[in-house]
Amino acid sequence: MKLWEGRFETAINADADAFNRSLPFDKRLWRADLEASVAHATMLGECGVLPKEEAETICRGLRSILGDIEAGKLAVEEGEDIHSFAENELVKRIGETGKKLHTARSRNDQVATDLRLYVRASADRAVSLLKDLCNVLLARARESVHYIMPGFTHLRKAQPVNCAQYFNAYCEMFLRDIGRFADCRARLNVLPLGSAALAGTSYPIDRERTRELLGFASVSQNSLDAVSDRDFVAEYLFCASLAMTHLSRLCEDTILYTSDEFGFWEIPDEYSTGSSIMPQKKNPDLPELVRGKTGRVYGHLMGILTTLKGLPLAYNKDLQEDKEPLFDAEDTLFSCLSIYTALLSAIRLCPNRMFIAAGEGYSTATDVADYLARRGVPFRDAHAYTGKLVRYAIAQKKPLTALTLEEFRAVCPVFEEDVLAAVGTRASAESRTSAGGSAYPAVRRGIASLAARLRKI
Ligand code: ARG
Repeated sequence: MKLWEGRFETAINADADAFNRSLPFDKRLWRADLEASVAHATMLGECGVLPKEEAETICRGLRSILGDIEAGKLAVEEGEDIHSFAENELVKRIGETGKKLHTARSRNDQVATDLRLYVRASADRAVSLLKDLCNVLLARARESVHYIMPGFTHLRKAQPVNCAQYFNAYCEMFLRDIGRFADCRARLNVLPLGSAALAGTSYPIDRERTRELLGFASVSQNSLDAVSDRDFVAEYLFCASLAMTHLSRLCEDTILYTSDEFGFWEIPDEYSTGSSIMPQKKNPDLPELVRGKTGRVYGHLMGILTTLKGLPLAYNKDLQEDKEPLFDAEDTLFSCLSIYTALLSAIRLCPNRMFIAAGEGYSTATDVADYLARRGVPFRDAHAYTGKLVRYAIAQKKPLTALTLEEFRAVCPVFEEDVLAAVGTRASAESRTSAGGSAYPAVRRGIASLAARLRKI
């Protein structure tokens, strides 16, 4: 039965009905919808808008529906949308009284409320999965505090860095994502119910009571805005997009670092895939897929922004298009976070290979320039001397560590015996003692700070 059929002489055309329906996807909102209805009916009973016993009968009916769906005894299949489904099912179960549930509300404030409840729970789940990933990153950081790896700029070896600092860097990014989801949750935690279709309601309802029952922090202040606001969906999709950006970068590193060319990490067989034609292949399909799926989450963000941009106030059916992108984005984000977290815990690090690579490519040249600058040579000149030295070493096919003091002094007489220690791979990373830098004590402090922030979540 349609909730609105009284106005019409004939039933809706079957194709039009199929096109209009949202139940096939908005059935995901069943729990939020039933819980919001219980709160609404409870409030109506307490305010005397409905007789107490009728409100109680309605709540009992709604709870039995919720229990049956939970137990897999009731399939959510029939109806225009989840709201029609729930109301029709209620009337089936408790009879005429069920028809009173929709007093003082509209599907417009109902769906806005359901969706806020849903996104609130989804943001909590995102935070918890991000936290799991941060904990794995931190564990990998703790095990690698004595490993040195190349730090890259422009994907060229730049300077040796502490491997733990690398994992800490991603942990910082995901902690920011956690903060963003928490902000998004705080901003969406406002109750729209009671705004009715668009203008509010003439019934003496108590919106504060509904707010309390559903655990919202406040009630919306403008009914026109409340029924048409989907900022929180766009914001959630932005949070998801940026988290996917970070995950995608980490996956790009994973693909590179596990290649034969880099050889820094190894993906165990359980998380690798093969080729149907090349028997020797071991492919990084999982991180590639995560990187690929990032585009699809961005697409959903663009989609919702475009859906919203031309809408006249207040509710428009276009808003029904908010759900599929949201659901697909959360599914994608959650599956990517889970699989990558598992993969990262299983990855094997190859410290020797990382250390050797860290010393290649004249990666300690900055340390040579700094050595001269510390002895009074202006940094720009020190840079030029060192450039010349590197050019000489390249011509000799030698690393800086293989040059003799005489060779150093031939370029600049300021060099002394101790320069040979300064060009060491580990010494280079160890010298970066500035706050947040790559030296062991700074990296240790980084780990402690991340751990403390994670514990607070
Ligand atoms: N399925 C609709 C949606 O998702 C529910 C609200 C319908 N409201 C209306 N006035 N037709 O937006």
